[in-house]
Amino acid sequence: MKQVKAHIAVSLDGHTATLDNELDWLPDEVKRTVGKHCLEADCLLMGANTYTYIFEHWGGWPYKSQRSFVVSHHDTNLTPDCGVEFLTEEPLRKVYELKQTHDILVVGGGKLLTSLVKAGLLDCLTIYTIPVMVGKGIGFIGETFGSKWKLSGSKIIYGNIISAEYELLY
Ligand SMILES: NC(=O)c1ccc[n+]([C@@H]2O[C@H](COP(=O)([O-])OP(=O)(O)OC[C@H]3O[C@@H](n4cnc5c(N)ncnc54)[C@H](OP(=O)(O)O)[C@@H]3O)[C@@H](O)[C@H]2O)c1
Repeated sequence: MKQVKAHIAVSLDGHTATLDNELDWLPDEVKRTVGKHCLEADCLLMGANTYTYIFEHWGGWPYKSQRSFVVSHHDTNLTPDCGVEFLTEEPLRKVYELKQTHDILVVGGGKLLTSLVKAGLLDCLTIYTIPVMVGKGIGFIGETFGSKWKLSGSKIIYGNIISAEYELLY
């Protein structure tokens, strides 16, 4: 079976974005690093809010070479010609099926990550801890059933950011 991985930048107070979806607290180097992983990925997976954020802030769809899947209850696909597909019917089952044949990179956000962790579908998680407190924001991960993870690697990047890789323990 292939793997589902996520690379997520988290503020020191545990947020992935401010309440108004701002990512201006994220250093450009980290944005570029995450973007590079996206461009190298086999398939991309994201929640509807992250899809909307990318579409609105990047002036279109930047990952045209990747198959991109958006999890939502509603198909609001604005970029069907760019390899973007909405998963609205039993989306987590579809992710499970996709995982049989494809490595998947989860772009975000926290709500989708929570669903994936609850379903036992996320195998690897890389967290970039940014030494900034954003105050009120969108949480990194919600309530799950509890799970154990192994720290499989860590390093300091760009001077003051901890990059830590975790693998789900079965
Ligand atoms: N810091 C980072 O590295 C990073 C990375 C990615 C995103 N972000 C930021 O995070 C914010 C978005 O994160 P978020 O947590 O609010 O939202 P999200 O996870 O991107 O999207 C949440 C939406 O996805 C759909 N969804 C998620 N799980 C589902 C499931 N199991 N079944 C059906 N639908 C499901 C629902 O859409 P519907 O309501 O349409 O049904 C839900 O409202 C944005 O500001 C984005 O820029 C930050």
